[in-house]
Order: sequence, then structure tokens, then C-alpha cells
Amino acid sequence: MVLLRTIWNNAVRWGLLGFTPLFFLLVRAAVIRFQRLHKSYSVAGREVVALQPLDLTIASGEVFGIIGHSGAGKSTLIRLINRLEEPSGGRLLIGGEDVTALDRAGLRGLRRRIGMIFQHFNLLSSRTVAGNVAFPLELAGTPRSEIDARVAELLARVGLEQHADKYPVQLSGGQKQRVGIARALATHPQILLCDEATSALDPQTTASVLQLLGQINRELGLTIVLITHEMDVIRRVCDRVAVLDAGQLVESGPVAEVFLHPQHPTTHRFVSEAEQVDERELHRSFAAVGGRIVRLTFLGADTYQPLLGRIARDTGVDYNILSGRVDRIKDTPYGQLTVALAGGDANAALAGFAAAGVHVEELRQ
Ligand SMILES: Nc1ncnc2c1ncn2[C@@H]1O[C@H](COP(=O)(O)OP(=O)(O)OP(=O)(O)O)[C@@H](O)[C@H]1O
Ligand SMILES: [Mg+2]
Repeated sequence: MVLLRTIWNNAVRWGLLGFTPLFFLLVRAAVIRFQRLHKSYSVAGREVVALQPLDLTIASGEVFGIIGHSGAGKSTLIRLINRLEEPSGGRLLIGGEDVTALDRAGLRGLRRRIGMIFQHFNLLSSRTVAGNVAFPLELAGTPRSEIDARVAELLARVGLEQHADKYPVQLSGGQKQRVGIARALATHPQILLCDEATSALDPQTTASVLQLLGQINRELGLTIVLITHEMDVIRRVCDRVAVLDAGQLVESGPVAEVFLHPQHPTTHRFVSEAEQVDERELHRSFAAVGGRIVRLTFLGADTYQPLLGRIARDTGVDYNILSGRVDRIKDTPYGQLTVALAGGDANAALAGFAAAGVHVEELRQ
């Protein structure tokens, strides 16, 4: 009660109630907490630091993305969660339990509560689809009669009812990953770890697998930790994101914030790749136009307001659009336009945008 009141008072004090998703995250219990967790390997007598001491909290029920280039430490990080890797130091708490202190029996229990899917699916080629999904249930000693019912339910969830008797070699990549997902869900885990789960798939199959993961998150309340090197994957499905660079956490926050206002150069690069913006080309276009240049960011319902026209009429300002995009971050529409302002009252135009809740960033005064 005291805790709830403190959270409520703080939420009122910081004005968070108007920003419901953040408030929602605050009151949701933290499920995974990294405390100065780190990992080094010894290679030919030399220490290789894969992950610098890391502090991070992942809330229950969220889809948390971790992005980084090859070798950034993503797999190391995710494999520390189910202790496929032993940490070199620090602590990892899951649901308040110190995972770093678990014995073998404790570890078996932990791994039943955590499902995992992989880039190359890791299916057993000698088993059918149904046999692969049944495997973790057999290991857990589940009775045969229950296994069959559970496998049927899982295959229906991932849309593979018609493929139960096929072997992995007879499936497409997307279907293989669906088997991987069904298998990972078999023991009713609370957490699903995804290590580059869509990196081997084409864009359309990626979209359908991400859609399935989002549906599982919503319907089962499962916490999902997803690692990727593509910002577009983060944008489509994640609530919050952390950016890893050379073993170090360099930026983290809600996806809309990190995606629309990246701070670290590595994050900038990921966003530019996803947006397919050629930054050099864009800056070259700055030289070709006069006047002030601004980036306008519209989020949520504002994205569809006819603001540009209204403000142009009211202030006499003309726009020269240098780049632009309208898309979605998870379920929230956004728009981002880089424009040069010509003529009229530019100050009044920018004040008009800000008053309408549009984020205004001056790129050239
Ligand atoms: N078993 C190991 N022994 C020695 N070094 C390792 C081992 N596993 C990983 N590393 C090193 O740790 C660093 C992080 O590796 P990790 O596999 O976590 O990166 P990653 O971000 O998952 O990369 P990728 O996107 O290529 O999968 C790398 O420098 C890697 O060479
Ligand atoms: Mg990896």
C-alpha cells in the first residue's frame, strides 16, 4: 500500500499521469534486473571483454529490444539471462531471485520459465514438427496424454496445425521459426528470449514472425527480450530498446524516444539505416536551399493533422520539403519531415508547430 502510494505521489509530482505508457511501465514489476553484470572470455591467455558492467531493468510484460552491431555483445547479454553463459561478475535478478546464485536444480527450474528462439531455428532434424514441440515437455516429464493436447494447442497458436507430421527439411524458414516459437512456449515460460530470430528471413516473413511475437506478448502477457541488428525490427515490435556498442550500453529508452531523437552516434547510424536516409545527400541539399531548416516530428494522432497547410496560410511561410517519412512505431503513427522555411513569419510558424505538440528541431538557423 505504502509502495503504491509512493508511486502514485511520484507520478503526480512528475506529471507522469498524462503520459500513460510510462506510468504503466513504472507500476509494472521489474522482471529482469542486471546489476553491474559483466562478462569476459579468456582467449589464449588474454582477456576479451564481451560485456562491460551493465545496469538494466526489463519490466514484466514488455517487449524489450537490444540492438548492436556484430560483436557488440548481444548474444552474450541474452545468454546471461538463462545462464547459457556464466557471468564474470555482478548480479542478475529475475522476479527478485538472484539467478547468479542458482544451483543445478535451480537452473533447470529457471530454464523452464525462460523460452528461447534462435536465428537458425535449432530444430531436431530427425523429429517431426510435433516431435520438436513435444521435446521440452518430454524432458519435463509431462504425461503423453497432456503432451498431445498441448502440442496441438501450440501448433494452432503459431498457425502450423496442417504441418504437424512434416520434418524441418520440408518447411520454409518462416515455418521453421514458428516451430521454434511453439517449442519455446511449450513449458508456459514467463520470458521469451529471441536471438536474431528474424535475421535469416526475408522481409515479408520477418513481418509475419514479428506480428506473431507481438500477438504472443499481448495475449499471454509474456516478457520478450529480442536482440537484433536492425532498427526496423525494434520499431515494429518493441516497447523499449537498449543500444549496445563494443560491449557497452550506450543508450536506452522508449522506442519512440530513441528512434525519433537518437543521441549516440551508433544509434544515429542504426536509425539512418532503417529510415534509408542518406545523411550526406540530405546535407548536400541544405546548400541548395536558403532560409532556416528544421526537422518536424509528429507523433500519434497529430501525424494526420493538416497542420502544414494551416500554418502556411496563417504565417505566410512556404515549405521546401527535403526529406520525409510517415510510418508507425509499434502501434503509434509518426511523421518526420525535414523542411526549409521560406518567406513569411518563420518564428510564428515554429511556435505554431510547437503549440500543436510537434517536436521542432532547428538544423540550420
Ligand atoms: N566463447 C567465446 N570465447 C571468446 N570470445 C567470445 C566468445 N563468445 C563471444 N566472444 C567475443 O565476445 C564479443 C561479443 O560477442 P557476441 O557473440 O555477444 O556478439 P553479438 O553482438 O551477438 O554479435 P553477432 O551480431 O555477430 O551475433 C565478441 O568480441 C566475441 O568475439
Ligand atoms: Mg550474436
